[in-house]
Amino acid sequence: MRKLFMANWKMTLTDDEAASLASEFAEAAVGAKCDVAVAPTFTALHAVKEVLHGSSVDLAAQDVFWEEKGAFTGEVSPAMLAELGVRLVIVGHSERRTLGETDEIVSKKTAAVRAAGMVPVICVGETAEERAAGRRDEVVRRQVEAALAAAPSADEPVVVAYEPRWAIGTGMPCDPGDAAAAHRLVRALISEHHGEDAQPHLRVLYGGSVDAASLASYVALREVDGVLVGGASAKIEQVKAMLASAAWS
Ligand code: PGA
Repeated sequence: MRKLFMANWKMTLTDDEAASLASEFAEAAVGAKCDVAVAPTFTALHAVKEVLHGSSVDLAAQDVFWEEKGAFTGEVSPAMLAELGVRLVIVGHSERRTLGETDEIVSKKTAAVRAAGMVPVICVGETAEERAAGRRDEVVRRQVEAALAAAPSADEPVVVAYEPRWAIGTGMPCDPGDAAAAHRLVRALISEHHGEDAQPHLRVLYGGSVDAASLASYVALREVDGVLVGGASAKIEQVKAMLASAAWS
């Protein structure tokens, strides 16, 4: 499986801005040695889908609700995303966990995304305090196990993004060796939960202050199957440099 470059544009771009960046992305992705996906905000999904039509860039969403339909004001269902052509859905991003998203909610969202035929991108990672207390592995284990609790199948694609919270948006990326250790743990947890058969369907991404300067130190690692990039993914010069990195091949 090719490695994955995934952009998370967070709540930073309007409809027009997202469409214009998506069109530059599509160009930059031509000939790239990695798979590429972009996650615009909900309101920009349709415009970005139109722009990406015919390109190799996959459409992703930043969140989802777990119910299929009904009186859930403000929420967006998995079927609504799937109908728009969304292939991957971020669940449990740390910025959502900070707003109150629990392991139980992440579990429901993961199952709902899979049931709708899309691929969950499950974000896990410890806070600075948890890290200082030596609790990284315990936190990652709890979050991965909880997310997969309601996901019965071993032979469906799944992406886990290891994103230490203290590294997100701070300009302080995780030491690549530390990230590799966390990635090995995630792989081992997936085997424990789903058996060895799940391994070919799993991609473990690193996220947290990745930019053109640091990308190669992650994607060159055997343990790292790609990156989830926030801030730098909204700057086209950074994107061009990251997609062209020799480290992908
Ligand atoms: P960052 O964000 O690259 O800006 O640190 C990563 C993320 O939120 O997924």
